[in-house]
Amino acid sequence: MSEPTYDLAALRARFPALDAGYAHFDGPGGSQVPLDVAQAVADTLTAPIANRGTGYAAARNAELVVLAARQAMADLLAADPGGVVFGRSMTELTMTLARTLADGWGPGDEVVVTRLDHDANVRPWVIAAERAGATVRWLDLDPATCELDDVATVLSDRTRVVAVTGASNLVGTRPDLPAIAAQVHAAGALFVVDGVHLTAHAAIDVAAIGADVFLCSPYKFLGPHCGVLAADPAFLETLRPDKLLPSTDAVPERFELGTLPYELLAGTTAAVDVLASLGGEEGTRRHRLVVGMAAVEAHEDRLRRRIEEGLAALPVEVLSRARHRTPTLLVRVPGGDQRASALLADRGVFAPSGSFYALEPARRLGLGDAGGLRIGLAPYSSDDDVDRLLEGLADAA
Ligand SMILES: Cc1ncc(COP(=O)(O)O)c(C=O)c1O
Repeated sequence: MSEPTYDLAALRARFPALDAGYAHFDGPGGSQVPLDVAQAVADTLTAPIANRGTGYAAARNAELVVLAARQAMADLLAADPGGVVFGRSMTELTMTLARTLADGWGPGDEVVVTRLDHDANVRPWVIAAERAGATVRWLDLDPATCELDDVATVLSDRTRVVAVTGASNLVGTRPDLPAIAAQVHAAGALFVVDGVHLTAHAAIDVAAIGADVFLCSPYKFLGPHCGVLAADPAFLETLRPDKLLPSTDAVPERFELGTLPYELLAGTTAAVDVLASLGGEEGTRRHRLVVGMAAVEAHEDRLRRRIEEGLAALPVEVLSRARHRTPTLLVRVPGGDQRASALLADRGVFAPSGSFYALEPARRLGLGDAGGLRIGLAPYSSDDDVDRLLEGLADAA
């Protein structure tokens, strides 16, 4: 099969928001949205719609939307559609998961969280462990490299869960997930991966990663604002989340409180289809997604290198130093990151400053809660965007 070319102009033309002329380096906070996605949301809301069921056309429409979205996410993550759970956000799903798992914990049990993670994969575990009387163990970060320490240093025969990010939304570090998974499983613990930042930048295969539970958020990869949890349905069968009496006990619905946002699920399917379209027209959707995400990664890496070369000539400090990382750069600009962000915004270049809920790494890197200036790339980022960013930073620094 021939490699499809990365047609950036055609891709950008699918995003109405880009017509405003801004250069977006704020993708790690949430990506811009293609018309395909907005249209799928509108189509779902304007077609006959009812609670999901099979009895009549409007109910069947909702049913089909749900099944299609589970299949789309299964294709994106190489997961089982029967283990794809939708929720309001990754944070909400992780809170529920941690609370549910903690029902089986007690004093002496241990839970591992890291100094690299977004707080959404830290605090739910800390809160749940404290309630259960379990112990929290912290996997540290080397501030010189932004790499995690060896997970073996915090594992024991009492470890129940290890929660690690697939990639840091602050500095881009991509831990070696399969290597960590092997150690976590050898210790008999569950491996929970926060894939929110990673899923926007790389092809995901949950089994190859070795994650028992993988979470992500479609609004980071061109989709609408909701969250997704993927796990083996057989594992989900073993969990008993709080639920209403009349709602189904079937998996994955057992974990989905209340009525699903059908329109957002349709938008999620559309976002997956947009990513698949970057992988050409041949083969299964899964195949096109793998090819498409590889093309996204190559495109974003090329632009990242351009930015890094440009930054090397400026008096800014680049904090993203891990060997393997996403195209997300945290920098410190003389005169202040907030000031630099505001000056860039005046030129229509959006690169926010902050710690982006990644409190632990921000503090560990000595940045306090203020963090730094974050430059994030997305599939629609262009060379012109990069030129504007570097010119703006040269004036701000
Ligand atoms: C790495 C990472 N994890 C988790 C989250 C939380 O995701 P959600 O907004 O879906 O709760 C974010 C959001 O920025 C994130 O970047």
